Amino acid sequence: MKRTFSFVWILALLGLGSCNHSAESKIDRRVETLLAEMTLDEKIGQLNLVDSGDLEELVRTGKSGALFNVVDPARVNRLQRIAVEESRLGIPLLFGRDVIHGFHTLFPIPLGQAATFDPQLVEQGARVAAVEASAAGVRWTFSPMLDIARDPRWGRIAEGYGEDPCLTAVMGAAMVRGYQGGDLRNPTSLAACIKHFAGYGAAEGGRDYNTTKIPARELRNFYLPPFEAAVRAGAATVMTSFNEIDGVPSTGNPELLHEILREEWQFDGMVVSDWNSLGEMVAHGFAADKRDAARKAILAGTEIDMMTFGYSGHLRELVESGEVPESVVDDAVRHVLRLKFRLGLFENPYVDEGLSARTSYAPEHLATAKRCALESAILLKNDGALPLSRVRNLLVTGPLADAAHDQNGTWSFDADPGHTVTPLTALRRVEGLHISYVPGLKYSRDRSSAEFAHVTAAARRADAVVVFLGEEAILSGEAHSLSDLHLAGAQSGLLAAARAGGKPVIAVVMAGRPLTIERDLANCDALLYLFHPGTTGGEAIADLLTGRAVPGGKTPVTFPRTAGQIPMYYNHNNTGRPAVGNEILLDEIPLRAGQTSPGCTSFYLDSGWEPLFPFGYGLSYTTFAYGAPRCDRETYGPEETIVVECTLSNTGRCAGTEVVQLYVQDLTGSIARPVKELKGFERVTLDAGESRTVTFRLPVEELAFHGFDLTRRVEPGRFRFWVAGDSASGTPAEFEVR
Ligand code: BGC
Repeated sequence: MKRTFSFVWILALLGLGSCNHSAESKIDRRVETLLAEMTLDEKIGQLNLVDSGDLEELVRTGKSGALFNVVDPARVNRLQRIAVEESRLGIPLLFGRDVIHGFHTLFPIPLGQAATFDPQLVEQGARVAAVEASAAGVRWTFSPMLDIARDPRWGRIAEGYGEDPCLTAVMGAAMVRGYQGGDLRNPTSLAACIKHFAGYGAAEGGRDYNTTKIPARELRNFYLPPFEAAVRAGAATVMTSFNEIDGVPSTGNPELLHEILREEWQFDGMVVSDWNSLGEMVAHGFAADKRDAARKAILAGTEIDMMTFGYSGHLRELVESGEVPESVVDDAVRHVLRLKFRLGLFENPYVDEGLSARTSYAPEHLATAKRCALESAILLKNDGALPLSRVRNLLVTGPLADAAHDQNGTWSFDADPGHTVTPLTALRRVEGLHISYVPGLKYSRDRSSAEFAHVTAAARRADAVVVFLGEEAILSGEAHSLSDLHLAGAQSGLLAAARAGGKPVIAVVMAGRPLTIERDLANCDALLYLFHPGTTGGEAIADLLTGRAVPGGKTPVTFPRTAGQIPMYYNHNNTGRPAVGNEILLDEIPLRAGQTSPGCTSFYLDSGWEPLFPFGYGLSYTTFAYGAPRCDRETYGPEETIVVECTLSNTGRCAGTEVVQLYVQDLTGSIARPVKELKGFERVTLDAGESRTVTFRLPVEELAFHGFDLTRRVEPGRFRFWVAGDSASGTPAEFEVR
């Protein structure tokens, strides 16, 4: 099957998550009947999402219609029975959970899944997560996170799909399809919740929860497209974000929640706040108190309040005083009830209490997770040390070699690290390989060099050394921002100590973000990078190191050289003075040089203008060559489709998979345009010596953007395009749009 991915590809899959028309009208009738019977307090109860307090009492009295963080099937059933049998109207509960990259079987963190550039596999992973989580009684996941992240200091870069709107849109739609399956009523379906709407990833300085500055056009052209694609794929719910944009917190932003989400995109699902994001509008200085926050939030379109207790505490008086029309509350309740009907909760409220134990960590789940971990690995350097050949005695060292908890990554609440196979365990199982193990450091932040001499001595005795470096799980994710992105603790020292043994050194980094590893590259012969790869990460790594599998992952974010270069992302606008390549850097500047001698362009004296690794980059054990790209015509009309072709050849000695990427640049627009934008990609597997023509079909419509007057359209003119293995290479060609 042909696997070219673009926005159009997503559109073609529309409808998979939506119920048929007659079922929907039946649901609407049932919603209206039920709504007519509800008291105002019961309506407000449906808008209250909690995970703590006297849950049984809240449910019995109809004061909470949805709970989260309850994952024991027996407890789920106990609470559900109270809702169904003891509350006045018997409305079933909806149980939510942050199922972010798997439930029990953990897949790579989302950033790692993005590195696969394989949406079909990502969709299968979300399906596995849904099967396992639903078996525990969960029917709603707060995932996928579709925040574009251009700043690896931001710990939550781990939870998303990187810096690119096209890749994030494709992956987001895949996650939605995987979670929701073909039909929400299927008991293995989870309602997806796309978050955080919107702009949360633009936190200034990468400091979590920080303010954002996103111009309206930028919001439309970069931050919103993944959300729109996921809405079109049928996402059942949306979560508002903590941040404000240009002074307006999302939870109280009617432009985002009404105009864009409901009116423009015709979203008919339900909107939930983030944890206390309603209450935090007081801290923002946007609401005077919780009552004011509740008023602003419900009027803006935030329908369920997660953990502020603003609606449960104040909505009744706001309705009674006339400040909030009851019809606004009714609309919110409609969306909640409709979701519960769509999920089949009224017919099927309970979970089989033995199912979870029978389902979790099933061999086929582990196999899918392993494929994902394999495809997520990015080979960033290889001077021939990989795959390991003729190595009999291998020294394994480093704080991530045997760290199950850390390898699982952020948001791994439900996984048992006992099921996680570490690289050390997996390598010890490889026949013919003798492993000696010296931890070197106890954990990633460990600053002690006490074992380094021992590591050097052991390296001398070995044929090769693999040093497992990176970040503990706790160093990325929510509220875990960093300002220094070097390997933590004494890890760089450990790598140098391994190097001093004089044998080939392979670094394997497992982290929640791109770290600034330039100085470490000099101390290894090969470097394999994985964003925390989850349960089967160790087995995948062992296969990759020994050549039983060939790496093919690509960077879903730019790797900066230094944290000071951030923000650095590939699809930036050009400056009036782009770097031209003859700039003089710090150490080359002669004494008493003239003021303009280093060059009057946009660059850093100390770190230049290029990143360490560009977006879309990754090596293989084989090599690929690209022919010149060509399109089928010189000019295209606005309704036409551009057919781009390029010949890809495997010029190396083994089979491998390459992610072929199509980039386009709009040369002149009513506003300055990005230097490149990803418009499609395809995974192509070729045998050694094989060549194939790769074809992309790009509708001209996909060149549209929000221009000077903010409307979205394709602007006629000349375009440049590249077909390449990353965002920084390739031969350009051009076409014109009339
Ligand atoms: C996070 C959300 C998450 C929610 C519920 C918040 O702190 O921002 O992403 O879904 O907690 O756990």
